[in-house]
Amino acid sequence: MVQRICCIGAGYVGGPTCSVIAQMCPEITVTVVDINQKRILAWNSDQLPIFEPGLQEVVKACRGVNLFFSTDIARAVQEADIIFISVNTPTKMFGIGKGRAADLKYIEACARQIAEVAVGFKIVVEKSTVPVQAADSIRRIFDANTKSSASFQVLSNPEFLAEGTAMRDLKHPNRILIGGDATPEGQMAIEALSNIYEHWVPKSKIITTNTWSSELSKLASNAFLAQRISSINSISALCEMTGADVEEVATAIGTDQRIGSHFLKASVGFGGSCFQKDVLNMIYLCEAFNLPEVAQYWQQVVEINEYQRRRFTSHIVRCLFNTITDKKIAILGFAFKKDTGDTRESSSIYICKYLMEEGARLNIFDPQVKKEQILDDLAHSSLSQDDTDKVLRLITISSDPYEACENTHAIVICTEWDIFKTLDYERIYKAMQKPAFIFDGRRILNCVYDYLKQLGFQVEMIGKRAGQKTLYH
Ligand code: UDX
Ligand code: ADP
Repeated sequence: MVQRICCIGAGYVGGPTCSVIAQMCPEITVTVVDINQKRILAWNSDQLPIFEPGLQEVVKACRGVNLFFSTDIARAVQEADIIFISVNTPTKMFGIGKGRAADLKYIEACARQIAEVAVGFKIVVEKSTVPVQAADSIRRIFDANTKSSASFQVLSNPEFLAEGTAMRDLKHPNRILIGGDATPEGQMAIEALSNIYEHWVPKSKIITTNTWSSELSKLASNAFLAQRISSINSISALCEMTGADVEEVATAIGTDQRIGSHFLKASVGFGGSCFQKDVLNMIYLCEAFNLPEVAQYWQQVVEINEYQRRRFTSHIVRCLFNTITDKKIAILGFAFKKDTGDTRESSSIYICKYLMEEGARLNIFDPQVKKEQILDDLAHSSLSQDDTDKVLRLITISSDPYEACENTHAIVICTEWDIFKTLDYERIYKAMQKPAFIFDGRRILNCVYDYLKQLGFQVEMIGKRAGQKTLYH
């Protein structure tokens, strides 16, 4: 009987996942641990470290009852029956596999720490997204370091939640995937973990596989989703040239049940901590296993994403009479999608960088992202040589969308926040330089397209032919 769960890593995956487990399994004590003391303090305060609709209520109800946040990793590991590893696996920035392979140093550190302090039998669950065969590495670290009083079963149980809808995804998952050894011990471990989920997930939705299938399914799942976005974004470029409208095309093709309607929204490109990292990770695996054709196939998904960001920015520059130096541009939205404060790999970062390269002055507004985060992302050295001074000179962070748009030549919508649909665009238009442009990288203003044009705006949307362009030029 599982009585205690420990989760190492109190981030976007570990925090919400354990909150839901604690809510659904009142008889189990769940302790989330992290090396980052500031993060743990935030989890124990009223200002949670991440914004996720519905999360605060669950944390408030369970915290101090059967949900705990702590920095005492050793103790939580010792007491737990099941240990989730939910640490970050960023893309390596140096050495072998630089820019593609997943950096497993945090996973390895966890495995070593678990081996050092654990006593008795533990089920160790890989929740972080990892390359195929990472569980084997964890097993080898255990085999080489474990004291005689401890034994382990390692399972793969990838998390499929999406940010912004994490609580709904966790409570109503499409499936739970658990991979483990074919041995009787492995099967018993799978059953123990499955029993946790069966508190709220129908058994028919719990898929069990071997460890490698589970690990690869997570990578493949994210790669397929990213591929759909790159596919529709590639079609959006064709739409802008031909007069077809990408939304109409997406609806038409999405009604074919074999294709399906989800994940066909053309955009400024996918962002977030997973898609690019996981596709790159898969590309690296293909190369390591000498499958260059497969690697090249997936590489295109990433390249189309970069192309879309560049293409969108070039279009802005072209429309603004080929020069944006010293022009003021409002950037609405900095998070990588709506309903999150997360900016990791957000297309907004790249679009702002490209516009800054042209010397534009940017007024940025996002309802959730903090000013320090925006400045930090834009000054980040891995993206370009921009130094903090340049960022501070060209960037203004506004706490109000109207203020952000005032006196600007153009508005660029980078995130699909609902509030951008209902702004008073008449008021905004009056306060802007003329001609006033809106570049909608998310197509959230398509339903008021004619109204905006009537107001006097020049409206440019991803996947919709611009007014002046002619067919087949
Ligand atoms: C994704 C996966 O959906 C989730 O299953 C996995 O566990 C983690 O990675 P997440 O990155 O949180 O989740 O968000 P998601 O909703 O998938 O969006 C990713 C990016 O794609 C965002 O930038 C979003 O704006 C963009 N997107 C999504 C599009 O551009 N068009 C779409 O049709 C869908
Ligand atoms: P994700 O989106 O995958 O949840 P995050 O970066 O939000 O990723 O969270 C990962 C968390 O894991 C971070 O808070 C980080 O401090 C924590 N972490 C990384 N390595 C360790 C470790 N060895 N022990 C404990 N916590 C760790």
